[in-house]
Amino acid sequence: MRDQAEQLRERMQRTNQPRTTKLVTVTSGKGGVGKSNFSLNFGLGLIERGHRTVLFDVDLGMANLDVLMGITPKKHLFHLLEPDTTVWDILEKGPGNLEFIAGGSGFTQIMQLEDEKLDRLFSQLDPLQGYADTIIFDTGAGLSNESIRFMLASDEVILVTTPEPPAITDAYAVIKMLHSRNPEISIRLVINRVTSEREGIQTTDKLAMVAKRFLNMNIQSLGYVTDDSHVSKAVKQQRPFLLTYPDSQASKSIRKLVGHYLQNSSTTPEQTSGLKGFIAKLKHFIR
Ligand SMILES: Nc1ncnc2c1ncn2[C@@H]1O[C@H](COP(=O)(O)OP(=O)(O)OP(=O)(O)O)[C@@H](O)[C@H]1O
Ligand SMILES: [Mg+2]
Repeated sequence: MRDQAEQLRERMQRTNQPRTTKLVTVTSGKGGVGKSNFSLNFGLGLIERGHRTVLFDVDLGMANLDVLMGITPKKHLFHLLEPDTTVWDILEKGPGNLEFIAGGSGFTQIMQLEDEKLDRLFSQLDPLQGYADTIIFDTGAGLSNESIRFMLASDEVILVTTPEPPAITDAYAVIKMLHSRNPEISIRLVINRVTSEREGIQTTDKLAMVAKRFLNMNIQSLGYVTDDSHVSKAVKQQRPFLLTYPDSQASKSIRKLVGHYLQNSSTTPEQTSGLKGFIAKLKHFIR
């Protein structure tokens, strides 16, 4: 049997090894379907499984991840333009070891910065490469130009919808638009607020069938999250449900989904372009 010191040494080595940083954008067609709650609790689920996760709020104007976590960020992305401010200064500590970067209301301004400043700002994020296993971008509702750029520049897109027809229709509009910009894009579906697994499967099947028929595109499912009153209770307490109600149905579905996510990666480490690739693509799509 290995002794404790050996296990600790191994863990230290693992921690110090540079990680393959994967960039994931969480989006939806219709607003209010549960993107922010999903991003937050999915991120915490990854942390539970030993993955270092940085959550990035890129919602324009309506940033609310900080409210869901009950924290008031002291700095946000825009502060990186100040002399002597590094990425470590804007990285906030959230609950459950989650690390968080607030986009802040200046996000639209950021995207309008001149080349040189934008370069400087995004280059400042470089140290996160190899530091985090996963960087999750939580986007706002609707297809803003900024969100589209983030989706196109990420390694993968997680598309959240509920089983309601208007949400499904809007989710399909996102698939169609992303496919038209990049037919190779990796999109995985999360069906939130399902009342049964059957409802989740039916919703996925509907979207997958339409995408196959009209776009000849294969859409994968990442899983389902149960419709659960504990989610709203946790939101009111400004605490993530995975931490406050770890045994709730919603938490159980998140853990199952995280397990599936870790076992069925849609991109290999070689295909993962990481933060450098992301920044290069983001600049490309801005210009
Ligand atoms: N699985 C769930 N079960 C029950 N209620 C849920 C669930 N997921 C989300 N909700 C409810 O939906 C509300 C909106 O969720 P959330 O803020 O995560 O959506 P959003 O997609 O990020 O919204 P926006 O488009 O405005 O950014 C939550 O406050 C909660 O009340
Ligand atoms: Mg949101």
